[in-house]
Amino acid sequence: MPCPHLPEGFDATDPDLLQSRIPLPEFAQLRQTAPVWWCPQPRGITGFDDEGYWVVTRHADVKHVSTHPELFSSNENTAVIRFNEHISRDQIEVQRLIMLNMDPPEHTRVRQIVQRGFTPRAIRSLESALRDRARKIVETARSGAAADGSFDFVTSVAVELPLQAIAELIGIPQDDRARIFDWSNKMVAYDDPEYAITEEIGAEAAMELIGYSMNLAADRKQCPAKDIVTQLVAAEGEGNLSSDEFGFFVLLLAVAGNETTRNAISHGMHAFLTHPEQWELYKRDRPATAAEEIVRWATPVVSFQRTATQDTELGGQKIKKGDRVGLFYSSANNDPEVFDNPEAFDITRDPNPHLGFGGGGPHFCLGKSLAIQEIELIFTAIADTLPDLRLVGDPRRLRAAWLNGIKELQVSVGG
Ligand code: HEM
Repeated sequence: MPCPHLPEGFDATDPDLLQSRIPLPEFAQLRQTAPVWWCPQPRGITGFDDEGYWVVTRHADVKHVSTHPELFSSNENTAVIRFNEHISRDQIEVQRLIMLNMDPPEHTRVRQIVQRGFTPRAIRSLESALRDRARKIVETARSGAAADGSFDFVTSVAVELPLQAIAELIGIPQDDRARIFDWSNKMVAYDDPEYAITEEIGAEAAMELIGYSMNLAADRKQCPAKDIVTQLVAAEGEGNLSSDEFGFFVLLLAVAGNETTRNAISHGMHAFLTHPEQWELYKRDRPATAAEEIVRWATPVVSFQRTATQDTELGGQKIKKGDRVGLFYSSANNDPEVFDNPEAFDITRDPNPHLGFGGGGPHFCLGKSLAIQEIELIFTAIADTLPDLRLVGDPRRLRAAWLNGIKELQVSVGG
């Protein structure tokens, strides 16, 4: 069904579009006139034999799909609607080994096991190490600034903490971290030609990370230690992950916990520097509501996808079995039915039922508490150490199909 007033060929998973902006005006138009809208795509753009997908833009509908896995499956290429022309059936098969792409009951079994590593106690136990890391990262950025006080916030600040957090969580030895970080960075965002990371390099990095993690798991099975790896692969009396499952779990963490948190931090900094009254408020009061608003504002994951398991209905539309359904978190997080003044960056917003971490179903972000902790720690360190940070020019955006990414954000500590 054509939607009036949308630009010709509009597709909210088009990397060229997302490199320039998040299409918020188009989402607003869709929420009002066609909240569940069929976006036609030229045959072959996803490597599949289909011709489009449903664009779900309202908060309530995104929640409905997320919480009904029996109607909307995660088993087909969840994370990306439009990856590139080359995605193959084989790749989809491999992706099914990652929990993000599993359905219950398989997903339930794996989720119950990995949750052991993400208890409130486990996350709290990382706080002190991550606080020190955050402070060091910010201090190093300040001392490494150019003579005029400028530096790139993304590479100097936002990149490091999410990687360190995952490494701390899993207990990766210090000496191995540089390799892990290199593989993780190669795996994400190779849609952007500027990084010169080909699909082959990304796949090779993924295989190396999986291999490393499987060895770690095999090691702990042999010699249990007091760490999370042991809890997941070698705990007695409960279900465990096989070494392969552990390898794919670490792979998921490296993607799901890395670029997402990095972009929340980068967008958060940009939002603060373009809303100076909010930065002043933050520095003065440090409201506990700030991190959630940063995630709503940034919505690092623009969209994820499900596939209908049977004929059903959504927002007045007839959805056919096998149809792809795109959940647009960016749109849901700006839905005026749910948020007063959604276009305002308001760090005191409360309640803030945003869907930045997912729509609340079985796949709801496992790392939410860790991400919130990281965001709080890094902005605390910045407010303490670099309270007068200034923006230098506009951010440069990442070319990606489902990420709201910033790849460069020049800032300055100079007066
Ligand atoms: C799943 C967002 C940080 C681990 C997800 C989902 C979203 C998301 C949208 C899918 C939810 C769904 O399909 O219903 C984010 C954002 C983050 C963040 C915006 C940062 C601001 C992290 C961190 C970790 C993590 C730090 C771990 C270190 C995961 C995992 C899943 C997931 C393992 C899959 C859960 C499952 O399939 O059951 N995240 N995430 N995430 N996230 Fe996060």
